[in-house]
Amino acid sequence: MSSYKICGGRALKGESFCQGSKTSSLPILAACILCDRTVELDNIPDITDVDATVKILTWLGCRITRSGRHMTVDASGVHTGEIPDDLMREMRSSVIFLGAVLARTGRALISAPGGCEIGLRPIDLHLNAISKLGAQIENSAGKIECTAPEGLKGASVTLSFPSVGATENVMIAAVLAQGETVIRNAAREPEISDLADFLNAMGAKVSGAGESTVRIEGVKRLHAAAHTVIPDRIAGATLLAAGAITGGSVRVRGLIPAHLEPVIDILEQAGSEIEIRSDSVLLRAPQRLRCVKTVRTMPYPGFPTDIQPPVTAMLCVSRGTSVVIETIFESRYKYVGELVRFGAKIRVDGRMAVVEGADRLYAANTVTPDLRGGAALVLAALAAEGESTVNDIRHIDRGYEDFSRTLAALNADVRRTEE
Ligand code: UD1
Repeated sequence: MSSYKICGGRALKGESFCQGSKTSSLPILAACILCDRTVELDNIPDITDVDATVKILTWLGCRITRSGRHMTVDASGVHTGEIPDDLMREMRSSVIFLGAVLARTGRALISAPGGCEIGLRPIDLHLNAISKLGAQIENSAGKIECTAPEGLKGASVTLSFPSVGATENVMIAAVLAQGETVIRNAAREPEISDLADFLNAMGAKVSGAGESTVRIEGVKRLHAAAHTVIPDRIAGATLLAAGAITGGSVRVRGLIPAHLEPVIDILEQAGSEIEIRSDSVLLRAPQRLRCVKTVRTMPYPGFPTDIQPPVTAMLCVSRGTSVVIETIFESRYKYVGELVRFGAKIRVDGRMAVVEGADRLYAANTVTPDLRGGAALVLAALAAEGESTVNDIRHIDRGYEDFSRTLAALNADVRRTEE
C-alpha cells in the first residue's frame, strides 16, 4: 500500500503547471475507436485512470504509443466489442466505451458497473439514450449487451439530468449514426466542448457543445486528427485550495481561468486574493481564512462536485461556520470521518455538511476513501501541525499526476512511501 508522509504547517509558495484534464482524456480516448486512422493526442495526464483506459483500448485491438503526455492511437485493428469484467472494474467510467464500441463494431458487451465510492452511479440515462438511437439492449446476469447490426440512427434524446457521461456517450455514439441526433438538457461542462472539438477535428459534425442543446449530424467516416486536451480545472483548483489552506501564495499556470469561476468566487469569499491572467491564476491567502456563504455543488457552470472535498477541507481552518451542500453524488462525504481525525469540526446531515472552522489542525493517520476525498486529506495534512500519514493513495493516483512531486515543488514537505 502506498502512502504519503506529510509534515504540515509550511505555506505553499511558487508556481505549478496544470496537468491535462482527466475528465476530458477518458472520453476522448474512448472516441478514438470511432476512427480507423491514427489519432495524435497531447496533454494526456500520466494517471492510473488513463492507464486503465489504455488497457481497454489495447484489448479491443488498438495500437498505442505513449511518450510523456503525447499519445498516438491507431484503432484500425479493433476486432471486438466485448470488454472483460476485470478491465471494466479497473475504472468506473469505462461505461464511456459503450457508445464508441457499439458505433464501431455494431455490438458492445460490458459488465454492469456497480456502485462506487461516491454513490450508486446508475447508467440508466446512458442506456435509455443509446436505445433511442436504435440499439437493442439486453441487461441480465450483470452483463449489458447492446446491438445495432444495421448501425445507429439519429434521434432526439432528452436527458432527465444533464449527466456528463451520458451526454458524452450519446455524442460519441451519434457521430457515425445515420441522420441527426439532438441532445436536450445536455451537460455543459468544458470537457463536453473539448470532446466535441476532438470529434470535429476527426471530421464529425457536432454543434452546440457547451450549451444545453447539442446537435450531431452523422457522417460516414472519420479521418486522422490531432488534438490537445484542455487543462484539468479540478487539479488546478485543488492546488489553489492547497495554497489557501496553508496560508500560501501559489500560481497555477496553463489553466483556462474561466473554467474555475465558481471556485475562484469561493476562494475570494474565504479571503484569498486572486489575480487572473489569460492562462494562469495566482492565489495569495491571508493569515487566517474566513467562512463563506453556502457552497452548493451543481452541474456546470455551478460549483463542481469534484472540488467540494478539497474546498471543505480548506473551510476547516477558516474563522466561522460554513455550509456545504452536495447535490450531485449521494455519498460524497466519506472523507469527512477522516478529516475529523485532524481535529476538523464537521457535522454531516444527509447532503449537507456544516463546517465550523478550527483554530488549527493536528497530525493524523488517515486512509483515503476516494479520489477527491483523498485530495481533501492531503490538504488537511499540509495544514496540520506535525507529521501525518495519508494511506492507500492509489485513489489519488487515479486523477492527480505525480501529486507529491507537484506539492513538493511548491515547498510542501511530502514524501511518498511504497510498502
Ligand atoms: C463525471 C466525472 C466526475 C464528475 C461528474 C460530475 C468522469 C470520469 N467523471 O462523472 O468526476 O464528478 O462527471 O461533474 O468524467 N446519473 C444517473 N444515471 C445515469 C448517469 C448519471 O442517475 O445514467 C446520476 C449520477 O448517479 C450522479 C449524477 O447523475 O448522481 C451526475 O452524474 P454524471 O454527470 O453522469 O457524472 P459522471 O459522468 O459519472
